[in-house]
Amino acid sequence: MSIKYFDEFKSFYLHTPNTSYVFHINDGGFLIHDYYGKKIPECDMRFYSARPGRSSFSPRSADGTTTPDSAPMEYSVNGTGDYRASALQIREFRGNASTDIRFDSYKIYAGKPELKGQPATYGTEEETTTLEIVAKDAVTNAEVTLYYTVFENYDAIARRVKVTNASEHGMDLERVYSSCTELPKGNWDICHLYGMWGRERKFERNHIPRGITAIESKRGASGHHHNPFIAIVDGSTTEEIGDAYGFSFIYSGNFSAQTEIDTDGDVRVIVGINPTDFGWHLDPGESFETPEAVSVYSAEGLGGMSRIFHKLYRNNLCRDPWKNAKRPLLINNWEGTYFNFDEEKIFNIAKEAGELGVEMLVLDDGWFGSRNGDNSGLGDWFVNEEKIKGGMKLLSERIHGLGMKFGLWFEPEMINPISNLYDAHPDWCLHVEGRPMCKGRNQYVLDLSRKDVQDYLFDCMDKILKDAQIEYIKWDFNRNITEAASALLSADKQKEIFHRYVLGLYALCERLLEAHPDLLMEGCSGGGGRFDPAMLYYFPQYWTSDDTDAIERLDIQYGTSMVYPTTAISSHVSVCPNHQTERISPMQTRGDVALAGTFGYELDVTKMSDEDKEAVKAQIAEYHKYYDVIHFGDLYRLIPPNGEECAWCYVSEDKSEALLTFVCIRCHPQFRRCVKFRGLDENKLYKDDEGNVRPGSVWMNAGINRTNGMKDFTSFKVHLTEVK
Ligand code: DGJ
Repeated sequence: MSIKYFDEFKSFYLHTPNTSYVFHINDGGFLIHDYYGKKIPECDMRFYSARPGRSSFSPRSADGTTTPDSAPMEYSVNGTGDYRASALQIREFRGNASTDIRFDSYKIYAGKPELKGQPATYGTEEETTTLEIVAKDAVTNAEVTLYYTVFENYDAIARRVKVTNASEHGMDLERVYSSCTELPKGNWDICHLYGMWGRERKFERNHIPRGITAIESKRGASGHHHNPFIAIVDGSTTEEIGDAYGFSFIYSGNFSAQTEIDTDGDVRVIVGINPTDFGWHLDPGESFETPEAVSVYSAEGLGGMSRIFHKLYRNNLCRDPWKNAKRPLLINNWEGTYFNFDEEKIFNIAKEAGELGVEMLVLDDGWFGSRNGDNSGLGDWFVNEEKIKGGMKLLSERIHGLGMKFGLWFEPEMINPISNLYDAHPDWCLHVEGRPMCKGRNQYVLDLSRKDVQDYLFDCMDKILKDAQIEYIKWDFNRNITEAASALLSADKQKEIFHRYVLGLYALCERLLEAHPDLLMEGCSGGGGRFDPAMLYYFPQYWTSDDTDAIERLDIQYGTSMVYPTTAISSHVSVCPNHQTERISPMQTRGDVALAGTFGYELDVTKMSDEDKEAVKAQIAEYHKYYDVIHFGDLYRLIPPNGEECAWCYVSEDKSEALLTFVCIRCHPQFRRCVKFRGLDENKLYKDDEGNVRPGSVWMNAGINRTNGMKDFTSFKVHLTEVK
């Protein structure tokens, strides 16, 4: 068992292969955090949580055992002496919001319990061990269960919380975070991913100031602007060396990841649902279960942290049958045609792409209702037979006749005011009676908390999926939520709408997958606006950004790779000048950058030159050749995109193969390009495709020395295979 309780020290020890997490029950029954980091033996760690006494302004608990304001609290609560960020705040029936939870009982068992109705990591009894701690508030009778699951193969701990109202009165949850982690004073930096449409998940690292730093969303979606992830790293931590703690939240709605550094320099990290615009009422006997948060620790810097997330999320969050299956290499018509297509044009794109080796045609926006632009039709999920003559069944049959698969775009959560659906059900969107609604891309957001709305969407999608042979859908979401209110909820429950919306979304995804278990779903939100771990549970790949410019993608994919595996990063080759930036980059660079993801095309292949078509054939051959090392290998970020250059490499798990990609962002006359491999076996011999045989130690310590200069936006790859 990798979780143990030692009564002698009243301490819990949670071990992963290389980490330990320790906390104890103190004399007052408070849960006090002791240690999280590199693996240590099970000794008495209580000394490490001792803090000097403070003044009368940091009150002691009534029983005199604890100063909640300075003690590292395992799960911080509001209103009883801890003035730092609270993980839990409950307003009881008498109106006050003071909470005080003390240890009651625990269970340790093999396996990981299911989180009903919400996405979460999973694992067998061999792969996981779980600790459940129950702590109770003797006054409010709130019962708080803290869940911790450790993974046998990964340095990761999955955490979540359940709050049960065991009283005879109602109570209201005002904050209920999924995890609270205390780190000792140090020289800490925070890393996070920020962005906007077309510029998602840019990496930023800053020294953490005292007070609260918050990375959050209140858009009703995780969003383009911030990702539900932060890493806390030592100031000296690099890409490959040093302490890195990663916190990732498996949730697609309003999230909050906060750090608070107190006066003494100690750090608290809380991760969970954003308390802004959140509340949840519990009647007697009812429970609330938070989404899951995952903590990862690596002593091997940000790179080590990312590699743990990649494996955990690919193997134990994404699901079968697609998590490790080779995905069909697709062409999507969006940038090729936008709304201007008919079935013949689509068929011709499929035909020519198929001849080059593409395996699936994805028909994007515009095939349904009165959708000839972005101002009408959303909600009317019926084939527009003026555009798709003969219907979707016929088109899919013709495409399958080419030996290809067929995929279709949906934006289920949205409604245009110009649509039959809106005419029939104006109250089906989120709205506040009497308040004019904000529009985003001419559309409103459907109220997914409603079962009738979920049923309508399921029925429409299920019918289309049954009528035609469709192996894949791209699920888009092109605006964020405003006027968040549901026509069906009572006034006291309106505060629940944001979370209920997310639960409704999960329910719809689950239902579709249950009905169509082999369906491959790709997530999308105006590019990567909802690229979060929860979505990966349903969508093993996610359209990373609407910005398909290869040079822009370097930043976007670099940031995305902090948490998300290559198998999830949907990346396509598009035409030049690029539609978003007008930049012209070589076909090879566009291919090399798209290879660092699921790979595909986003263009009208019928308009391509013969030369470019030959390049496509060569790229597709490379895609197959390097598929395993890229998708199942370990990623090493060698040079971050720095305005000059960028490089990364993948190394197969058995270290017998590696692929390095280098992109020149800005050229200089007479300039050399040097880059060192990482992750190889230093004692193995490796040969590149030009026949150079060198030991791993040379490839890693000396590396590559390109003396032939490079032009702006050009790239090269170096492929190594072990010489036995
Ligand atoms: C936004 C997506 O990100 C694009 O790829 C495309 O599907 C459009 N929506 C279609 O409206």
